[in-house]
Amino acid sequence: MYTPAITGTGVFTPQSSISNAELVVAFNAYADRKNAENAQAIAAGEIEPMQHSSEEFIVKASGIENRYVMDKSGVLDPEIMHPSLRQRDDNDPGIMTEMAVDACNKALAQAGRRAEDVDLVICAASNHERAYPAIAIEIQQALGIDGFGFDMNVACSSATFGIQAAADMIRSGSVRAALVVNPEICSGHLEWRDRDCHFIFGDVATATLIERIEDAQGPHFEILSTRCATQFSNNIRNNNGFLRRSRPDGLVDRRDMQFMQNGRKVFKEVLPMVSKHISDHMESEGIASGDLKRLWLHQANKTMNDFIGKKVLGREPEADEQPNILQDYANTSSAGSIIAFSKYSDDLEDGDHGLICSFGAGYSVGSVIVKRCE
Ligand code: COA
Repeated sequence: MYTPAITGTGVFTPQSSISNAELVVAFNAYADRKNAENAQAIAAGEIEPMQHSSEEFIVKASGIENRYVMDKSGVLDPEIMHPSLRQRDDNDPGIMTEMAVDACNKALAQAGRRAEDVDLVICAASNHERAYPAIAIEIQQALGIDGFGFDMNVACSSATFGIQAAADMIRSGSVRAALVVNPEICSGHLEWRDRDCHFIFGDVATATLIERIEDAQGPHFEILSTRCATQFSNNIRNNNGFLRRSRPDGLVDRRDMQFMQNGRKVFKEVLPMVSKHISDHMESEGIASGDLKRLWLHQANKTMNDFIGKKVLGREPEADEQPNILQDYANTSSAGSIIAFSKYSDDLEDGDHGLICSFGAGYSVGSVIVKRCE
C-alpha cells in the first residue's frame, strides 16, 4: 500500500467577470421587456408581472458579489440571457478541455511535474459537454499523458469523490500520479431569467495532482482519509444540462432542462447531513476540532458555511480558519472547495491538519482530511 498526497493544485479563472450590479441591470431590463410584452395578460390578472432582482438581496441571501463567466455578452443581453458560446466542430478542443488544460498545467507546475509523470485523468464535474468520448480522455490527449482517463459526475461533490477515487488507486498501486480536474461551465446550465437563482453560479476549472507521497518534489498534503456519502433527493436537479439554450437548433425551452433547486429545503436538509458527516469523519480518524487548522468548504452560500464551520469547530470560526471565495467566484459547483484550498493552504505549517468538504445535489457529501508536510 502507498500513501497518497496532494502535491499541486491549479485554478483556471475565465477573463470575464460579472458584478452583481451588472447582473441585476440585465435581469431587470429583461423583466421590464417581458412585462411590457405581457401587459394585457398582466392587466387582466392572467399572469403575474416579473419582479425586479436586487443587489442587496443577492449579497444578503448568498454572500456572492461577483462571478466569472466564459461569455459575458450573451448573459448580459436582455434579448439572449444565456452565454453565447460558439458551437464547436468535433475536431476542435471542447470548451471543458480548454479550461481544464490550463488548470492542470498550473497544478503540474506547482508540483514540479510534467504531464508524462501522470497516468490517470479524472474529469469530475457537474455537467459534461457531451456523453462520450469522455472529456477526460480529450484532456489526457491535450496534455500528452499516457495511461487512462474517465469522467465522473456527483454534481457539487464531484471533486472530493474524484479525489477519493484517485487516492484509492494510488494507495493500491494501480496508478502512480493522477490529475483530478473539475472544469465547471455552470453558466451553460443556469437559468439566467429566473430571479430566484440567476445570481448563483460562475465558471471556473480546478485541478488537483495526487501522487505517492514519496514522489512529492516539494511541500504537499498527505491524504489521511477520505469519506463519501449520498442520499437521493430531487431538491437540486437538472434534467438535461449542458448548454441547451445556447444551441441554435431550436430545442424545447423547458425550465426543468436547466438547474433547479428548492433552496430552503436544501438548507434544511443538507446542513445537518454535512455537519454530521464531517464530525463523524473527524471522530473516526481521531481528529478533534481543536486539531483542525483549516476547513475548505463547498462554496454555495455564506450563511451555510458559517453554520457548518460553527457546528464543526464548536465556536465561531476565524476568517482564516474557514476561507470563503464565493464572494468573488459565486458557486462554482465542484470546484469551489478546491479554489479555497488552492488559494488558502500555503501558509499551513508542517503537521497542520485541514479538511476539504464539498456537498450538493444527489444529495452528496465528500470530505478529505489532509496533513501538511514540508
Ligand atoms: N432579488 C430580490 N428578491 C428575491 C430574489 C432576487 N434575486 N430572489 C428571490 N427573492 C425573494 C423571494 O421571492 C422571496 O420573497 P417572498 O418572501 O416575498 O416570497 C424572498 O426573496 C426570499 O426568498 P428565498 O428563496 O426564501 O431566499 P433564501 O434566503 O432562501 O435565499 C438562496 C435563496 C437560493 C440563496 C438560498 O436558499 C440558498 O443558497 N440555498 C442553498 C443553496 C445551495 O447550496 N444549493 C446547492 C446548489 S449546488
